[in-house]
Amino acid sequence: MELTNFNSGSDSSSSPTHKTTLLSIIFNKETKRPIISFLLILPLSFVLLQQLTPLQPLSFFLLTFSTNENESENENGTRCDYTKGKWVRNERVSYYTEECPFLDPGFQCVHNGRNDTGYMYWRWQPHGCDLPMFNASDMLERSRNGRIVFAGDSIGRNQWESLVCMLAKGVGNGSRIYEQFGNPITKHRGFLSLVFQDYNLTVEYYRAPMLVTVDRLPPNVSSGGPIKGAVRVDMLPHLAGRWAGADVLVFNTGHWWSEDKITKMGNYIQVGKTINMTMDIKEAFQLSLETVTNWATSNPQLSKAHIFFRSFSPSHYTNGTWDTNGTCRRETEPWISTSGFRFRFEPEPWSNAITVRAVEEMKRGGRNARYLDITHPTELRKDGHPSSHREPGTPPHAAEDCSHWCLPGVPDMWNEILYASLLSMNYNTKNSNNT
Ligand SMILES: *[C@@H]1O[C@H](CO)[C@@H](O)[C@H](O)[C@H]1NC(C)=O
Ligand SMILES: *[C@@H]1O[C@H](CO)[C@@H](O)[C@H](O)[C@H]1NC(C)=O
Ligand SMILES: *[C@@H]1O[C@H](CO)[C@@H](O)[C@H](O)[C@H]1NC(C)=O
Ligand SMILES: *[C@@H]1O[C@H](CO)[C@@H](O)[C@H](O)[C@H]1NC(C)=O
Ligand SMILES: *[C@@H]1O[C@H](CO)[C@@H](O)[C@H](O)[C@H]1NC(C)=O
Ligand SMILES: *[C@@H]1O[C@H](CO)[C@@H](O)[C@H](O)[C@H]1NC(C)=O
Ligand SMILES: *[C@@H]1O[C@H](CO)[C@@H](O)[C@H](O)[C@H]1NC(C)=O
Ligand SMILES: *[C@@H]1O[C@H](CO)[C@@H](O)[C@H](O)[C@H]1NC(C)=O
Ligand SMILES: *[C@@H]1O[C@H](CO)[C@@H](O)[C@H](O)[C@H]1NC(C)=O
Ligand SMILES: *[C@@H]1O[C@H](CO)[C@@H](O)[C@H](O)[C@H]1NC(C)=O
Repeated sequence: MELTNFNSGSDSSSSPTHKTTLLSIIFNKETKRPIISFLLILPLSFVLLQQLTPLQPLSFFLLTFSTNENESENENGTRCDYTKGKWVRNERVSYYTEECPFLDPGFQCVHNGRNDTGYMYWRWQPHGCDLPMFNASDMLERSRNGRIVFAGDSIGRNQWESLVCMLAKGVGNGSRIYEQFGNPITKHRGFLSLVFQDYNLTVEYYRAPMLVTVDRLPPNVSSGGPIKGAVRVDMLPHLAGRWAGADVLVFNTGHWWSEDKITKMGNYIQVGKTINMTMDIKEAFQLSLETVTNWATSNPQLSKAHIFFRSFSPSHYTNGTWDTNGTCRRETEPWISTSGFRFRFEPEPWSNAITVRAVEEMKRGGRNARYLDITHPTELRKDGHPSSHREPGTPPHAAEDCSHWCLPGVPDMWNEILYASLLSMNYNTKNSNNT
């Protein structure tokens, strides 16, 4: 269930959230009319918006910032806080172009009619230190015979495509990179694996928007009632077994965890065999991350893995919301700095605090885990979204996509931080014996 397989099965585009269940998104993949992709954007955007409203308790804010997850060691051996800094104009820094063959159409904004390209040429400058440039050949060499795995929602696929394109620049012969099963790079696939043949490396993406199983009804619940599907907080998705054995494992989730996406769409929380109609979404989110954490700390195949959990990626709707013609189309410049910036004082998205705790739990369980904190730098990039320049075929008056990111673009910086973190962890598959 991506932002893309959102099939309402209805010709009405006015209120997709009421016509579509999470289940239909997952189990109904055959429809590929252009309108689908547009319908998909709507509810996600709404969720994003919900998560950024300033209603969360201050405690979440304090909790997140009481950790030291926002620091990484740089080459000098000093601590560097990548979460504080500013965006600096840099015409030379673009690791790849929109012609990268591994980008899906939804992220190729210029191809889709965007006529400003400035969003591609900004680099994040942390206060007091530098974020190392991404070195594709170095990253490839360090990843030889390895597996890099992304598991999460479509914003995770956004980051995966960015990394694949960044790495592809380090390979002389582009034809030595291919999808393992010959599948096209599209949002309609739940699993994609790019093989870098010269390095015996795979870079894989698993669609798992909630990281746990979203399932059909339990057998003793009658169909036709209010319950349409179940989010099984204590069960990982079917393909999760393949996350194990990764050398680098990057999780993300958050956008789908809202009342609007779960209960209002007829999906209920299931614990064991029991549907729980009253459980709070935040508690369900926390239980789900505990499931992920317990799995990650107990699976021996992950004892040498470098595990990351990416923080929440903000969306930017102005002059309305996703369903009231909210827009980001006129945004061509980022907010420059986190200093003196109003958003700095907005609460963290609530999911971040729970994510931080999950990472701490993994560390306590002996895992090499890091919180990949990109929320604040990303929040400044109101200029980075596809807006109305989405997949070809999207209706002209469709709601804008102010949730995903144009590529090249903002997720490249997330991967710079990922790379910098890996350097500070002395990442090299030669050092690990796990298979
Ligand atoms: C992490 O960043 C926050 C603000 O962004 C800062 O207050 C905090 O001191 C940083 N963490 C550490 C351990 O320095
Ligand atoms: C770019 O496109 C916008 C509409 O998206 C339009 O208003 C603007 O005039 C265009 N600018 C140029 C330089 O073509
Ligand atoms: C290392 O330290 C020097 C001097 O303090 C500084 O100029 C440089 O930016 C630092 N390097 C990194 C990667 O932070
Ligand atoms: C990238 O890494 C390779 C291998 O470590 C090194 O030889 C090369 O100099 C690096 N390139 C840059 C621009 O730092
Ligand atoms: C490729 O990598 C896998 C581990 O991911 C390893 O088992 C296999 O032996 C490697 N193949 C070659 C030809 O090195
Ligand atoms: C690229 O690799 C393919 C497959 O290995 C090979 O057929 C082709 O000749 C190579 N091209 C160049 C320019 O090296
Ligand atoms: C379904 O059966 C399980 C036991 O098998 C029971 O705990 C549960 O309450 C039943 N009903 C619902 C709605 O889950
Ligand atoms: C549902 O979850 C809430 C909160 O954890 C709990 O208090 C309640 O007992 C649960 N209900 C059922 C039927 O398990
Ligand atoms: C804001 O929305 C109103 C009403 O839909 C519209 O008339 C106006 O042009 C919009 N302004 C911007 C900056 O998009
Ligand atoms: C959004 O714009 C469409 C035309 O593009 C208009 O019909 C509709 O009334 C607008 N909705 C809102 C809530 O302003």
